Amino acid sequence: MGDWAPRWMSDRELGLAERHPPGGLPGPQPAGRSAPDRNLGLELVRATEAAALAAARLMGRGDPEAVDRAAVDAMRLMLGTVPMDGLVVIGRGEKDDTPTLYSGEAIGKAGAPAVDIAVLPIDGVRLTAQGMNGALSVAALVERGSLLEPGPCAYMDKIAVGQEAADAIDIEAPVADNLRRIAAATGSQVADLTVMILDRNRHERLVGDVRDAGARIRFLLDGDVAGAIAAARRGTGVDLLMGIGGTAEGIIAACALKCLGGAIQGRLAPRDEAERERTAGAGYDADRVLATDDLVSGDDVFFAATGITDGDLLGGVRYRGDSAITHSIAMRSRSGTVRLIDAEHHRDKLKRFSAIEY
Ligand code: FBP
Repeated sequence: MGDWAPRWMSDRELGLAERHPPGGLPGPQPAGRSAPDRNLGLELVRATEAAALAAARLMGRGDPEAVDRAAVDAMRLMLGTVPMDGLVVIGRGEKDDTPTLYSGEAIGKAGAPAVDIAVLPIDGVRLTAQGMNGALSVAALVERGSLLEPGPCAYMDKIAVGQEAADAIDIEAPVADNLRRIAAATGSQVADLTVMILDRNRHERLVGDVRDAGARIRFLLDGDVAGAIAAARRGTGVDLLMGIGGTAEGIIAACALKCLGGAIQGRLAPRDEAERERTAGAGYDADRVLATDDLVSGDDVFFAATGITDGDLLGGVRYRGDSAITHSIAMRSRSGTVRLIDAEHHRDKLKRFSAIEY
Protein backbone atom coordinates (compact mmCIF):
# COMPACT_ATOMS: atom_id res chain seq x y z
CA MET A 1 0.00 0.00 0.00
CA GLY A 2 3.10 2.20 0.43
CA ASP A 3 2.74 5.44 2.29
CA TRP A 4 -0.02 6.74 0.11
CA ALA A 5 -3.07 7.82 2.06
CA PRO A 6 -6.06 9.72 0.82
CA ARG A 7 -6.39 13.21 2.19
CA TRP A 8 -8.76 16.06 1.62
CA MET A 9 -7.28 19.14 -0.02
CA SER A 10 -7.57 22.21 2.16
CA ASP A 11 -9.83 25.11 1.19
CA ARG A 12 -6.73 27.20 0.66
CA GLU A 13 -5.28 24.64 -1.76
CA LEU A 14 -8.57 24.57 -3.58
CA GLY A 15 -8.70 28.35 -3.64
CA LEU A 16 -11.91 28.36 -1.59
CA ALA A 17 -10.53 30.22 1.41
CA GLU A 18 -10.68 33.47 -0.50
CA ARG A 19 -14.11 32.74 -1.92
CA HIS A 20 -15.71 31.51 1.34
CA PRO A 21 -13.80 33.04 4.25
CA PRO A 22 -14.76 32.01 7.76
CA GLY A 23 -17.75 33.99 8.91
CA GLY A 24 -19.77 33.81 5.73
CA LEU A 25 -19.88 35.07 2.21
CA PRO A 26 -17.70 38.00 1.24
CA GLY A 27 -18.94 41.39 0.24
CA PRO A 28 -21.76 43.46 1.66
CA GLN A 29 -25.18 41.81 2.13
CA PRO A 30 -28.13 43.82 0.80
CA ALA A 31 -29.52 46.00 3.60
CA GLY A 32 -31.93 44.14 5.87
CA ARG A 33 -31.20 40.82 4.21
CA SER A 34 -29.03 37.89 5.13
CA ALA A 35 -28.18 34.50 3.70
CA PRO A 36 -31.03 31.95 4.08
CA ASP A 37 -30.92 30.15 7.42
CA ARG A 38 -32.00 26.63 8.36
CA ASN A 39 -35.53 25.74 7.23
CA LEU A 40 -37.02 23.79 10.11
CA GLY A 41 -40.03 23.03 7.91
CA LEU A 42 -37.92 20.40 6.19
CA GLU A 43 -37.16 18.75 9.53
CA LEU A 44 -40.84 18.97 10.47
CA VAL A 45 -41.92 17.19 7.33
CA ARG A 46 -39.85 14.17 8.34
CA ALA A 47 -41.91 14.04 11.52
CA THR A 48 -45.27 14.26 9.73
CA GLU A 49 -44.10 11.66 7.21
CA ALA A 50 -43.10 9.29 10.01
CA ALA A 51 -46.46 9.75 11.77
CA ALA A 52 -48.39 9.25 8.53
CA LEU A 53 -46.44 6.12 7.64
CA ALA A 54 -47.03 4.63 11.08
CA ALA A 55 -50.74 5.51 11.18
CA ALA A 56 -51.57 4.54 7.61
CA ARG A 57 -50.46 0.97 8.33
CA LEU A 58 -53.56 0.71 10.53
CA MET A 59 -56.01 2.37 8.12
CA GLY A 60 -59.52 0.96 8.22
CA ARG A 61 -58.77 -1.47 11.05
CA GLY A 62 -61.33 0.18 13.31
CA ASP A 63 -58.92 0.90 16.16
CA PRO A 64 -58.61 4.66 16.79
CA GLU A 65 -56.42 4.24 19.89
CA ALA A 66 -53.85 2.15 18.01
CA VAL A 67 -53.83 4.61 15.11
CA ASP A 68 -53.31 7.57 17.42
CA ARG A 69 -50.61 5.84 19.45
CA ALA A 70 -48.66 4.79 16.34
CA ALA A 71 -48.69 8.34 14.97
CA VAL A 72 -47.75 9.95 18.29
CA ASP A 73 -44.84 7.57 18.89
CA ALA A 74 -43.44 7.99 15.39
CA MET A 75 -43.75 11.77 15.41
CA ARG A 76 -42.22 12.03 18.84
CA LEU A 77 -39.24 9.92 17.89
CA MET A 78 -38.55 12.02 14.80
CA LEU A 79 -39.06 15.41 16.51
CA GLY A 80 -36.61 14.26 19.17
CA THR A 81 -33.85 14.24 16.54
CA VAL A 82 -34.29 17.89 15.56
CA PRO A 83 -31.61 20.21 16.98
CA MET A 84 -33.89 22.64 18.80
CA ASP A 85 -35.06 23.59 22.26
CA GLY A 86 -38.69 22.66 21.60
CA LEU A 87 -41.69 23.11 23.86
CA VAL A 88 -44.93 21.36 22.92
CA VAL A 89 -47.62 24.02 23.32
CA ILE A 90 -50.31 22.11 21.46
CA GLY A 91 -49.95 18.39 21.94
CA ARG A 92 -51.78 15.15 22.04
CA GLY A 93 -52.39 12.95 25.02
CA GLU A 94 -52.01 13.32 28.74
CA LYS A 95 -48.83 13.54 30.71
CA ASP A 96 -47.98 10.05 31.99
CA ASP A 97 -45.01 7.76 32.40
CA THR A 98 -44.50 7.34 28.68
CA PRO A 99 -43.99 10.69 26.96
CA THR A 100 -46.83 11.35 24.56
CA LEU A 101 -46.17 14.75 23.04
CA TYR A 102 -48.32 16.24 25.78
CA SER A 103 -48.64 20.02 26.08
CA GLY A 104 -45.72 21.26 28.14
CA GLU A 105 -43.34 18.48 27.06
CA ALA A 106 -39.81 19.54 26.14
CA ILE A 107 -38.60 18.00 22.90
CA GLY A 108 -35.65 18.26 20.56
CA LYS A 109 -32.01 17.30 20.50
CA ALA A 110 -30.90 20.24 22.63
CA GLY A 111 -29.60 23.47 21.22
CA ALA A 112 -30.98 26.59 19.65
CA PRO A 113 -33.45 27.73 18.49
CA ALA A 114 -36.03 27.93 21.28
CA VAL A 115 -39.35 27.13 19.61
CA ASP A 116 -43.01 26.47 20.34
CA ILE A 117 -44.37 23.32 18.70
CA ALA A 118 -47.92 22.44 17.78
CA VAL A 119 -48.65 18.88 16.73
CA LEU A 120 -51.59 16.93 15.51
CA PRO A 121 -49.95 13.58 14.75
CA ILE A 122 -53.35 12.84 13.19
CA ASP A 123 -56.08 15.28 12.31
CA GLY A 124 -58.71 12.68 11.55
CA VAL A 125 -58.09 9.75 13.91
CA ARG A 126 -61.59 8.48 13.25
CA LEU A 127 -61.16 8.93 9.49
CA THR A 128 -58.00 6.83 9.56
CA ALA A 129 -59.45 4.12 11.78
CA GLN A 130 -62.55 3.91 9.57
CA GLY A 131 -60.59 4.06 6.32
CA MET A 132 -62.13 7.34 5.18
CA ASN A 133 -60.65 10.22 3.18
CA GLY A 134 -59.11 13.39 4.52
CA ALA A 135 -56.77 12.43 7.40
CA LEU A 136 -53.50 14.35 7.72
CA SER A 137 -50.54 14.40 10.03
CA VAL A 138 -49.72 18.00 10.92
CA ALA A 139 -47.04 19.92 12.82
CA ALA A 140 -46.06 23.57 13.15
CA LEU A 141 -43.13 25.28 14.73
CA VAL A 142 -42.54 28.94 15.59
CA GLU A 143 -40.27 30.99 17.78
CA ARG A 144 -40.79 30.57 21.54
CA GLY A 145 -43.78 32.40 22.98
CA SER A 146 -45.61 32.82 19.67
CA LEU A 147 -48.39 30.23 19.93
CA LEU A 148 -51.59 30.86 21.83
CA GLU A 149 -52.07 28.20 24.48
CA PRO A 150 -55.43 26.55 23.77
CA GLY A 151 -56.58 26.64 27.41
CA PRO A 152 -59.60 24.78 28.79
CA CYS A 153 -62.06 25.63 26.01
CA ALA A 154 -62.00 22.68 23.59
CA TYR A 155 -63.91 24.35 20.75
CA MET A 156 -63.57 27.46 18.68
CA ASP A 157 -65.84 29.09 16.12
CA LYS A 158 -63.82 29.81 12.97
CA ILE A 159 -63.88 31.48 9.62
CA ALA A 160 -60.90 31.00 7.31
CA VAL A 161 -60.15 32.26 3.81
CA GLY A 162 -57.31 32.69 1.34
CA GLN A 163 -55.21 35.76 0.64
CA GLU A 164 -57.60 37.59 -1.69
CA ALA A 165 -60.35 37.63 0.93
CA ALA A 166 -58.13 38.05 4.00
CA ASP A 167 -59.50 41.53 4.78
CA ALA A 168 -63.11 40.66 3.97
CA ILE A 169 -63.99 38.44 6.92
CA ASP A 170 -65.67 39.41 10.18
CA ILE A 171 -66.75 36.54 12.41
CA GLU A 172 -69.14 38.87 14.24
CA ALA A 173 -71.00 39.84 11.07
CA PRO A 174 -73.91 37.80 9.68
CA VAL A 175 -73.01 34.85 7.44
CA ALA A 176 -74.60 36.51 4.40
CA ASP A 177 -72.46 39.66 4.85
CA ASN A 178 -69.29 37.59 5.01
CA LEU A 179 -70.24 35.71 1.88
CA ARG A 180 -71.05 38.94 0.00
CA ARG A 181 -67.72 40.49 0.98
CA ILE A 182 -65.73 37.37 0.13
CA ALA A 183 -67.48 37.16 -3.23
CA ALA A 184 -66.63 40.81 -3.94
CA ALA A 185 -63.00 40.34 -2.88
CA THR A 186 -62.55 37.29 -5.11
CA GLY A 187 -64.47 38.65 -8.09
CA SER A 188 -67.20 36.00 -7.77
CA GLN A 189 -70.91 35.77 -7.07
CA VAL A 190 -72.12 34.41 -3.73
CA ALA A 191 -73.64 31.51 -5.66
CA ASP A 192 -70.14 30.58 -6.89
CA LEU A 193 -68.69 30.25 -3.40
CA THR A 194 -68.13 26.88 -1.72
CA VAL A 195 -68.13 26.85 2.07
CA MET A 196 -66.56 23.97 3.94
CA ILE A 197 -68.35 23.03 7.16
CA LEU A 198 -67.88 20.14 9.60
CA ASP A 199 -70.95 17.94 9.37
CA ARG A 200 -72.28 18.40 12.90
CA ASN A 201 -75.74 19.02 14.39
CA ARG A 202 -74.42 22.19 16.01
CA HIS A 203 -74.09 23.70 12.52
CA GLU A 204 -77.75 23.45 11.60
CA ARG A 205 -78.26 27.22 11.79
CA LEU A 206 -75.00 28.01 10.00
CA VAL A 207 -75.92 25.60 7.20
CA GLY A 208 -79.34 27.26 6.90
CA ASP A 209 -77.76 30.73 6.71
CA VAL A 210 -75.30 29.66 4.00
CA ARG A 211 -78.10 28.04 2.00
CA ASP A 212 -80.33 31.11 2.38
CA ALA A 213 -77.50 33.28 1.11
CA GLY A 214 -77.24 31.03 -1.95
CA ALA A 215 -73.70 29.66 -1.55
CA ARG A 216 -72.67 26.04 -1.94
CA ILE A 217 -71.52 23.73 0.86
CA ARG A 218 -69.05 20.89 1.15
CA PHE A 219 -69.35 18.93 4.34
CA LEU A 220 -66.35 17.57 6.19
CA LEU A 221 -66.67 14.41 8.24
CA ASP A 222 -63.64 15.42 10.30
CA GLY A 223 -60.38 17.27 9.88
CA ASP A 224 -60.96 20.99 9.72
CA VAL A 225 -57.24 21.85 9.51
CA ALA A 226 -57.33 20.42 5.98
CA GLY A 227 -60.52 22.42 5.42
CA ALA A 228 -58.83 25.69 6.41
CA ILE A 229 -55.85 24.96 4.17
CA ALA A 230 -58.18 24.09 1.29
CA ALA A 231 -59.86 27.48 1.74
CA ALA A 232 -56.52 29.24 1.41
CA ARG A 233 -55.06 27.28 -1.48
CA ARG A 234 -56.01 27.96 -5.05
CA GLY A 235 -57.47 25.19 -7.14
CA THR A 236 -59.12 23.25 -4.31
CA GLY A 237 -62.62 24.44 -5.18
CA VAL A 238 -63.12 25.65 -1.61
CA ASP A 239 -63.45 29.36 -0.80
CA LEU A 240 -63.86 29.40 2.96
CA LEU A 241 -64.18 27.31 6.08
CA MET A 242 -66.83 28.16 8.65
CA GLY A 243 -68.07 26.67 11.88
CA ILE A 244 -67.05 25.27 15.23
CA GLY A 245 -64.15 22.84 15.50
CA GLY A 246 -61.27 22.17 17.87
CA THR A 247 -59.43 25.12 19.42
CA ALA A 248 -56.06 23.43 18.92
CA GLU A 249 -56.95 22.80 15.28
CA GLY A 250 -57.80 26.50 14.89
CA ILE A 251 -54.40 27.57 16.19
CA ILE A 252 -52.58 25.10 13.94
CA ALA A 253 -54.68 26.21 10.99
CA ALA A 254 -53.57 29.79 11.76
CA CYS A 255 -49.95 28.61 11.36
CA ALA A 256 -50.76 27.20 7.93
CA LEU A 257 -52.69 30.29 6.87
CA LYS A 258 -49.84 32.54 7.94
CA CYS A 259 -47.60 30.62 5.55
CA LEU A 260 -50.17 30.71 2.75
CA GLY A 261 -51.09 34.38 3.24
CA GLY A 262 -54.71 33.65 4.13
CA ALA A 263 -56.56 34.66 7.29
CA ILE A 264 -58.53 33.05 10.07
CA GLN A 265 -60.68 34.54 12.79
CA GLY A 266 -61.67 32.50 15.80
CA ARG A 267 -63.80 32.90 18.88
CA LEU A 268 -63.77 30.39 21.72
CA ALA A 269 -67.02 28.43 21.93
CA PRO A 270 -67.58 26.99 25.44
CA ARG A 271 -70.03 24.08 25.40
CA ASP A 272 -71.76 25.01 28.63
CA GLU A 273 -71.69 27.44 31.54
CA ALA A 274 -69.14 25.36 33.48
CA GLU A 275 -66.71 25.44 30.54
CA ARG A 276 -67.32 29.16 30.09
CA GLU A 277 -66.40 29.72 33.73
CA ARG A 278 -63.29 27.53 33.47
CA THR A 279 -62.29 29.44 30.34
CA ALA A 280 -62.72 32.81 32.07
CA GLY A 281 -60.95 31.50 35.19
CA ALA A 282 -57.94 30.60 33.05
CA GLY A 283 -57.81 34.20 31.79
CA TYR A 284 -59.46 33.78 28.38
CA ASP A 285 -62.17 36.09 27.05
CA ALA A 286 -64.60 33.86 25.17
CA ASP A 287 -66.17 36.89 23.47
CA ARG A 288 -62.95 38.16 22.00
CA VAL A 289 -62.32 37.78 18.29
CA LEU A 290 -58.93 36.14 17.77
CA ALA A 291 -57.23 37.12 14.51
CA THR A 292 -54.49 35.11 12.82
CA ASP A 293 -51.82 37.08 14.71
CA ASP A 294 -53.52 36.43 18.05
CA LEU A 295 -53.48 32.71 17.40
CA VAL A 296 -49.87 32.71 16.23
CA SER A 297 -47.70 35.79 16.48
CA GLY A 298 -44.28 36.18 14.92
CA ASP A 299 -43.19 36.16 11.37
CA ASP A 300 -41.28 32.90 11.09
CA VAL A 301 -43.75 30.05 11.17
CA PHE A 302 -42.93 26.59 9.81
CA PHE A 303 -45.73 24.20 8.91
CA ALA A 304 -45.78 20.67 7.54
CA ALA A 305 -48.48 18.14 6.77
CA THR A 306 -48.48 14.66 5.24
CA GLY A 307 -51.50 12.82 3.86
CA ILE A 308 -52.49 9.68 5.75
CA THR A 309 -55.61 8.76 3.82
CA ASP A 310 -56.42 10.28 0.42
CA GLY A 311 -57.67 13.84 0.49
CA ASP A 312 -58.28 16.91 -1.68
CA LEU A 313 -55.10 18.45 -0.42
CA LEU A 314 -52.67 15.52 -0.34
CA GLY A 315 -52.74 11.90 -1.37
CA GLY A 316 -52.59 9.24 1.31
CA VAL A 317 -49.77 6.78 1.99
CA ARG A 318 -49.31 4.11 -0.68
CA TYR A 319 -47.40 0.88 -0.20
CA ARG A 320 -45.82 -1.04 -3.00
CA GLY A 321 -43.29 -3.81 -2.63
CA ASP A 322 -40.78 -2.60 -0.17
CA SER A 323 -41.50 1.08 -0.62
CA ALA A 324 -44.03 3.50 0.75
CA ILE A 325 -44.91 6.78 -0.95
CA THR A 326 -45.95 9.88 1.00
CA HIS A 327 -47.26 13.26 -0.13
CA SER A 328 -46.53 16.29 2.01
CA ILE A 329 -46.61 20.05 2.09
CA ALA A 330 -43.93 22.10 3.88
CA MET A 331 -44.22 25.86 4.21
CA ARG A 332 -42.51 28.80 5.86
CA SER A 333 -44.19 32.14 6.44
CA ARG A 334 -41.07 34.29 6.27
CA SER A 335 -40.06 33.20 2.79
CA GLY A 336 -43.57 32.28 1.64
CA THR A 337 -42.18 29.11 0.06
CA VAL A 338 -44.66 26.26 -0.29
CA ARG A 339 -43.06 22.91 -1.05
CA LEU A 340 -45.00 19.89 -2.20
CA ILE A 341 -42.89 16.87 -1.37
CA ASP A 342 -43.41 13.37 -2.69
CA ALA A 343 -41.15 10.92 -0.91
CA GLU A 344 -40.36 7.29 -1.55
CA HIS A 345 -39.42 5.48 1.64
CA HIS A 346 -37.57 2.17 1.50
CA ARG A 347 -38.80 0.25 4.47
CA ASP A 348 -36.12 -2.45 4.57
CA LYS A 349 -33.38 0.18 4.59
CA LEU A 350 -35.10 2.37 7.17
CA LYS A 351 -35.70 -0.60 9.45
CA ARG A 352 -31.95 -1.09 9.76
CA PHE A 353 -31.42 2.16 11.64
CA SER A 354 -34.81 3.48 12.67
CA ALA A 355 -36.96 2.48 15.61
CA ILE A 356 -40.09 3.59 13.74
CA GLU A 357 -42.35 0.80 12.46
CA TYR A 358 -42.77 1.64 8.79
P1 FBP B 1 -60.20 13.36 15.38
O1 FBP B 1 -60.18 13.61 16.86
O2 FBP B 1 -60.92 12.10 15.00
O3 FBP B 1 -58.82 13.41 14.83
O4 FBP B 1 -61.03 14.54 14.71
C1 FBP B 1 -60.44 15.80 14.53
C2 FBP B 1 -61.51 16.85 14.31
O5 FBP B 1 -62.39 16.54 13.25
C3 FBP B 1 -60.88 18.22 14.04
O6 FBP B 1 -60.40 18.39 12.75
C4 FBP B 1 -62.00 19.14 14.41
O7 FBP B 1 -61.49 20.43 14.71
C5 FBP B 1 -62.59 18.46 15.61
O8 FBP B 1 -62.27 17.07 15.48
C6 FBP B 1 -64.07 18.60 15.71
O9 FBP B 1 -64.49 18.05 16.92
P2 FBP B 1 -65.83 17.17 17.04
O10 FBP B 1 -65.61 15.89 16.26
O11 FBP B 1 -65.96 16.90 18.50
O12 FBP B 1 -66.93 17.97 16.47
